[in-house]
Amino acid sequence: MSKIPTISRRQFCAGVATAVVTATFSPKNSHAFLSSQDDIVGFNPLFIPELIDSRTHNGPIDVSIQNGQHEFVAGRTTPTLGYNGSYLGPTIRMYQGEDTHIRFTNLMKEPTTVHGHGLHVPGEVDGGPQLRIEPGETWDVTLPIVQEASTNWYHPHLMGTTAKQVHAGLAGFYLIEDENSQLLGLPNTYGLDDIPIAIQDRTFKNGVMTPYPTSPPDDLREDTIIVNGTLNPVLEVPPSLIRLRLLNGANARAFEIYRSDGGPLIKIATEGGLLEQAVKLESIKMSPGERNEVIIDMSAMDEVDLKVVFLAKKYTSLNTMIAPTQQMLRLKTSSKLEKQNTTVPYTLNHIQPYNADDALVSRSFDLEDMAINGVKMDPEVINEQVKLGELEIWTIDSGRHPFHMHGASFQILSINGKAPAPEDRGWKDTINPRGQAKILLRFNHEASKQYPYMYHCHILEHEDMGMMGQFTVT
Ligand code: C2O
Ligand code: CU
Ligand code: CU
Repeated sequence: MSKIPTISRRQFCAGVATAVVTATFSPKNSHAFLSSQDDIVGFNPLFIPELIDSRTHNGPIDVSIQNGQHEFVAGRTTPTLGYNGSYLGPTIRMYQGEDTHIRFTNLMKEPTTVHGHGLHVPGEVDGGPQLRIEPGETWDVTLPIVQEASTNWYHPHLMGTTAKQVHAGLAGFYLIEDENSQLLGLPNTYGLDDIPIAIQDRTFKNGVMTPYPTSPPDDLREDTIIVNGTLNPVLEVPPSLIRLRLLNGANARAFEIYRSDGGPLIKIATEGGLLEQAVKLESIKMSPGERNEVIIDMSAMDEVDLKVVFLAKKYTSLNTMIAPTQQMLRLKTSSKLEKQNTTVPYTLNHIQPYNADDALVSRSFDLEDMAINGVKMDPEVINEQVKLGELEIWTIDSGRHPFHMHGASFQILSINGKAPAPEDRGWKDTINPRGQAKILLRFNHEASKQYPYMYHCHILEHEDMGMMGQFTVT
């Protein structure tokens, strides 16, 4: 543990918000703003989605996309959507170098698609808006997994109904493993010390989730945190290192996550893979669509609370200080659970840096006024044509919008003119620079005119309103 490079307090304060300090150590603030959660008494065991391992599963993995009645609070049902269940979906584990065969059957009365966010797969199996699954239909898809170990997710991607369908419960994890991730000695027992954490905000009245509004706001920001669909969750864990695969699965909210005891979140992975080395952080900011893997050392602790700061739309380090804070997840060690790993490996991965000098093509993407580069998504228009295998520099002027593109992972060249911090020097597919980012990327799979990749704002309301574009890779 002592070998892990630590961001010193001074560096931390210079680069990241000082907010956490205020929020962390102010007990009055630490349990604030539970408005719609007030009627929830006590803690609930964290829901862990079923794990389907593509290696041990017999035959194709069947997933039905269905209506459900979900009990966020025992005895009170909310009409929801889910994959094989009433809210969220199974975690599907896949392996580098292997195909994963899934059959998605749409049992709903409306069309949908299933996009693999973070997957490096050809456009024809990417699950974008063109790959509609009509009611009653089955999408039989084989995903060729070539990329390295990473935490990804799947969700609908039909323009106009993505926000509503995700809000009702359609989201699940795709976890990719490779030789490195399996041999490293990182926590990897699913549900025990390797935990998927989907963070969302919702509104509840008397334990019933408020449905997606019929005339939605520009971005839907609600008042109550749920994790894996659980209100005020607690998880019993072994007295060891606990790996949390954090996903911001909110429609529009950005969160800042920190420990109530001021202890470190040990970041080990960005969206597209493990960092080269773990980095200790006091807090982590996450925009919709982003993932981060962190380790919490529970080997000498009885319990710890994770808290969330609700970041303002246009947050700066100043206004995070007055942002509402909410309980997110309690981890409690249990002596009944066998001790697992207690040391974070020093070297996690090897990341070959892209060389900006090799990038012959540059493009820019300006996210403004619910459009990108001044135009809204038009299914008939291909906005960009990318050459297969060529390194490119993209300049993202995103203001407050989280930018995401399909088909590859990128490396950050700079954020607002500065080199990325150690914890951002990994593979990513979603970024909210709150200003300008320059990224380096290369696409190694094809996306035809018929099945192009998408780039878009990952605030789902903005995406639905057309803050999205299409590109081919050939
Ligand atoms: Cu998370 Cu284009 O999607
Ligand atoms: Cu995506
Ligand atoms: Cu946006």
